[in-house]
Amino acid sequence: MCGIIGYVGPGVSDRPLRVAREALARLQYRGYDSAGIAVANSDGLSFIKRAGKLSVLEEALAADPLPPASAAIGHTRWATHGGPTDANAHPQLSYDGAVAVVHNGILENHQVLRQELIEAGIEFQSETDSEAAAHLLARAYAELGDLPEAMRAVARRLEGTFTLLAVAQDNPRLVVGARRTSPLVVGLGEGENFLGSDVAAFVAQTDRALELGQDQVVTITADAVEVTGFDGRPVRAREFRVDWDASAAVKGGFATFMEKEIHDQPTAVRDTLLGRLTPTGHLQLDELRIDESVLRSVDKIVVIACGTAAYAGHVAKYAIEHWCRVPVEVELAHEFRYRDPVVTSKTLVVAISQSGETMDTIMAVRHAREQGARVLSVVNTMGSTIARESDAALYTHAGPEVAVASTKAFLAQIAATYLLGLYLAQLRGTMFPDEVRAVLRELEQMPAKIERVIGGGDAIRELAASMKDVESVLFLGRHVGYPVAMEGALKLKELAYIHAEGFAAGELKHGPIALIDQGQAVFVVVPSPRGRDVLHDKVLSNIQEVRARGARTLVVAEEGDQAAAAHADQVFWVPQTPTLLAPLVAVVPLQMFACAVATVKGLDVDQPRNLAKSVTVE
Ligand code: M6R
Repeated sequence: MCGIIGYVGPGVSDRPLRVAREALARLQYRGYDSAGIAVANSDGLSFIKRAGKLSVLEEALAADPLPPASAAIGHTRWATHGGPTDANAHPQLSYDGAVAVVHNGILENHQVLRQELIEAGIEFQSETDSEAAAHLLARAYAELGDLPEAMRAVARRLEGTFTLLAVAQDNPRLVVGARRTSPLVVGLGEGENFLGSDVAAFVAQTDRALELGQDQVVTITADAVEVTGFDGRPVRAREFRVDWDASAAVKGGFATFMEKEIHDQPTAVRDTLLGRLTPTGHLQLDELRIDESVLRSVDKIVVIACGTAAYAGHVAKYAIEHWCRVPVEVELAHEFRYRDPVVTSKTLVVAISQSGETMDTIMAVRHAREQGARVLSVVNTMGSTIARESDAALYTHAGPEVAVASTKAFLAQIAATYLLGLYLAQLRGTMFPDEVRAVLRELEQMPAKIERVIGGGDAIRELAASMKDVESVLFLGRHVGYPVAMEGALKLKELAYIHAEGFAAGELKHGPIALIDQGQAVFVVVPSPRGRDVLHDKVLSNIQEVRARGARTLVVAEEGDQAAAAHADQVFWVPQTPTLLAPLVAVVPLQMFACAVATVKGLDVDQPRNLAKSVTVE
């Protein structure tokens, strides 16, 4: 949560402001309660900050631009301490105006620090925890006369999670950053350098980046980057290339990022599957730096994730258990972390995360490693904390996902976990090589099938227009259709603010069927009628049960499934697909439905209320 940019360039120009504005536009998905920028030149600091979306800041800047400068810091906020007001927006200025600070995270000892500073005569201007850091930094800077040294001293005093960036009134040629648990990466330019809460902040400027570790302070000038621990000892940061196409983070003719990202899905799946087969037809996952003997001896897999990523984990469970005959548990990362789970050195923990910065998942990864488990992460964002802190990272190649509601990352996560399942099956000998190849061939056909579903979106959009005033929608599914139903419900809640719930269809009779009343809309994800007849027929029975009680049945079914159509008020066809792979097509109409309802209701599809894309606080 909260997007952060820092920049230092070679001379005084408009570039620092331009870089900061562009970065904030790209980082809005991390929070959009308020935004602000501070720039530094030889005359000192100038800043602007406004409550509301970035457009409010942009209007203010148009009326009253910031001056040319050599350095800038910027922030887009997801409020934690103190509501979304101008005063609580960042940058936070120190009591003497000596430093400006932007912060992401939560300072858990801020009350104690605030009290100490008040007793020293400092008046607070905001309700934020971050302001205490600005005042502390100014005091340390006055005492030590060196901004990086002062930042280290302050960082050692702070408890909780933080990324802090600071620029000083009397030194416009450097920006100093500190990080503990919250994300921060360095962008390496030619005669200029960047700091960002993720690579999206500077991907349009450079593809060279440095990973920062836990408890580190970084100082950037136009031509140098220096990294130390909080103790001042120099640290060597690892350089990596950002292979995201910067143009992927623009709307490209679509009205919203979400629509674009739905259309990106065939490519996201295709790119995630790309280059995994050796010439001899062997599946290889080069990134899996965990010893094969360890992977062979794994006796349990635990998937940890949150939100949509957790639903990808639920889909993975069905596939991996079926292919590998190893038990798979799926758990919300925040629950896993705090319930003393049974994890041993034979447990493989799979952490799934688009951002790689979800705090709940980071904490769960750390906990699992402390218990001796190997952690393999399935991550979309390069250089992110989860990827760095895992034993191995299997990257999804969905490219930057900007809309807060996840779509293409979900499909890419499912594709990546299928690869993982097939790889483990190959390694552990639970599938014959030609069986693995047959599934891979089916997988290779999925992008074209997803494309077909997206192409047939008109019926979904018409339905959405007719349903904009409904108050509740239920989603039912069995087997892999169950996580698809839950994901469909989540999409509708977060985008259209409509009460929605996803149920395992078999659970219906155990209570939820009491919700069915005349006209209640119920989406049902119907499994393929081919192969697993029992499952298919059971879901048809469930449709009939709700229909008999007055429900309006909206059915996602495989092309040609006339038996399902017979019980539907409306059918949305998806191409014929083997059951385990079906989530890749079945979820698409549900994503499109949620997006279309939100659009008809005039809601902000890309930035739904109260949410942020990267949930970097617990
Ligand atoms: O970045 P992550 O994949 O770790 O994020 C996990 C969830 O916060 C995320 O999937 C969230 O549920 C989305 N808003 C869903 O659309």
